Amino acid sequence: MQKMNSNEIVFDDICFSYGKNEVLHHVSTTIKLLSFTAIIGPSGTGKTILCQLIPRFWDVSGGRISMGGADIRHVPTEDVMQKISMMFQKVYLFEDSIANNIRFGKPGATFEAVRAAKAAQCDEFIMSPPNGYETLVEEGGSNLSGGEKQRISIARAILKDSPIIILDEATSALDAENEHQILKAVDGLTRNKTVIMIAHRIESIRKADHIIAIENDKIVQEGTHEQLLSKKGLYADFIHTRQEAGGWKLKT
Ligand SMILES: Nc1ncnc2c1ncn2[C@@H]1O[C@H](COP(=O)(O)OP(=O)(O)OP(=O)(O)O)[C@@H](O)[C@H]1O
Ligand SMILES: [Mg+2]
Repeated sequence: MQKMNSNEIVFDDICFSYGKNEVLHHVSTTIKLLSFTAIIGPSGTGKTILCQLIPRFWDVSGGRISMGGADIRHVPTEDVMQKISMMFQKVYLFEDSIANNIRFGKPGATFEAVRAAKAAQCDEFIMSPPNGYETLVEEGGSNLSGGEKQRISIARAILKDSPIIILDEATSALDAENEHQILKAVDGLTRNKTVIMIAHRIESIRKADHIIAIENDKIVQEGTHEQLLSKKGLYADFIHTRQEAGGWKLKT
């Protein structure tokens, strides 16, 4: 067993395959302490997989991932999981009360759960039905909207308060109010954390101090917004397409 000395994550020449299908090909990058990394790139290029390798949903087929200098395969998985909060595109909720869904992993946290729900912009919709926090989540969360489910998962992460946050931003369009609330909730969650965000929205990418552009199983560009926008390539194309679609003007 090895010891993690910090929360810095290093991908050292990693490869990953599903059977014969190589999904990530010799990827190296460093996620610095307290940095905000945005990962962008076309669909199916391995962005989600890259993030799922950190909590060891899968193990690399080549190279190594280290956290605080230790190979993550040589530290207890629980220790790694303790440091990470993950929010993937699909939110999994239990058929249980909203309160229990929020304090999942932290039983007994009552006041803290309410505080987290407020910070995640959930309090209003939770308090509108008569049972409030005791309202039962129906199978698959069918009595909640997509945005509400996402905010519950953000509340859960705020409560967990782990130093590393991994966010796989939903691609589905949300209405403006929901979108605004989610951005605000994410702001509350990510302050003073190391953040890795698979980002689709310009508003999210703007917060990044480290951008990774992935295409065809490799990192094709890496740097800051200014550095990448001044070059031709995947990132500039990505931003220009989004600007046209959203009527955005972004200063370089
Ligand atoms: N469970 C799986 N079994 C086999 N192949 C998979 C599995 N999950 C993903 N893949 C393949 O791995 C590749 C990368 O998938 P990944 O989900 O990381 O893409 P992505 O960049 O996150 O795409 P998106 O932007 O659509 O979410 C894809 O080609 C996908 O088909
Ligand atoms: Mg994905």
